[in-house]
Amino acid sequence: MPLTRTTEMFKKAYEGHYAVGAFNVNNMEIIQGIMEGAEATHSPVILQASEGARTYAGQDYIVGLTKIALTRCPDIPVALHLDHGSTFEVCKACIDGGFSSVMIDGSKYPFDENAALTKKVVEYAHAHGAVVEAELGRLAGVEDHVNVAEKDAIFTDPDQAAEFVELTHCDSLAIAIGTSHGAYKFKGDPYLDFDRLEKVGRLLPGYPIVLHGASTVIPEFVEKCNRFGGEVNGAKGVPEEMLRKAASMAVCKINIDTDIRLALTSSIRESLHEHPETFDPRMYLKAGREAVKQMVMHKITAVLGSDGQA
Ligand code: G3H
Ligand code: 13P
Ligand code: ZN
Repeated sequence: MPLTRTTEMFKKAYEGHYAVGAFNVNNMEIIQGIMEGAEATHSPVILQASEGARTYAGQDYIVGLTKIALTRCPDIPVALHLDHGSTFEVCKACIDGGFSSVMIDGSKYPFDENAALTKKVVEYAHAHGAVVEAELGRLAGVEDHVNVAEKDAIFTDPDQAAEFVELTHCDSLAIAIGTSHGAYKFKGDPYLDFDRLEKVGRLLPGYPIVLHGASTVIPEFVEKCNRFGGEVNGAKGVPEEMLRKAASMAVCKINIDTDIRLALTSSIRESLHEHPETFDPRMYLKAGREAVKQMVMHKITAVLGSDGQA
């Protein structure tokens, strides 16, 4: 199966009250782990690369590895998506390079500027067979390599979200309802503004909403990191039941990066600790890849509900 756009995936997800996982990719083992997890659970999947991933691995490597993954898993619908594109130029480069979906993140701009930039990307993308995710509202946490102070996080206004979609014709919209990027999401009790999500769903019936910063920060991996020499303290993510509820509402795409980082790193730490004599990278990378696969399988079956939907 060739790369798919997210349109059909999201339509099915909306109607079926589940969400498709969008997993961040940076290297071969991560792509393999995610694809093995998606294949084992017969789930559609979105592989997404940030600007940092493009710089680290090279856009052509990411596209090349994804194309090989498609031939290995011919029954699995796969979209390749740019995560947090900051300019028209980077979105164009990804579309021209073979991505089926891009995000233009103009959330740091005022409404009109964000809408104008998004519209420009949408026009180019739609003319070239790709789809566009935009963002309105600001998440707290680390975004664009700067720390967005919690006080500056601005939850998305539902009326503005409806106006934004009508103005820009973006294919999906990321909104801020309390999640944040990274491993330190909540100081107190986790809280998501479901009333806000419900209102967005009412004003935009059938329209796919995206949840960023949606890692659970799985305690087992945090504990394993720390047991084998790490120092990841005070980490807290979005509880699984909150993600399940969001997936049953208008949220069709759930972004997961931190949980991949934790699965991979904790398993590599464990492997190196248990085999101090070994310096063959295939040993610890294999352990890391397997941990990514198991984590992805768990997300798909126990949280997203996309198993069996390929
Ligand atoms: O939302 C950001 C993603 O976790 C990607 O992070 O820019 O460090 O690759 P990155
Ligand atoms: P996490 O940091 O919660 O994994 O969020 C990832 C994300 O939103 C990527 O765009
Ligand atoms: Zn994000």
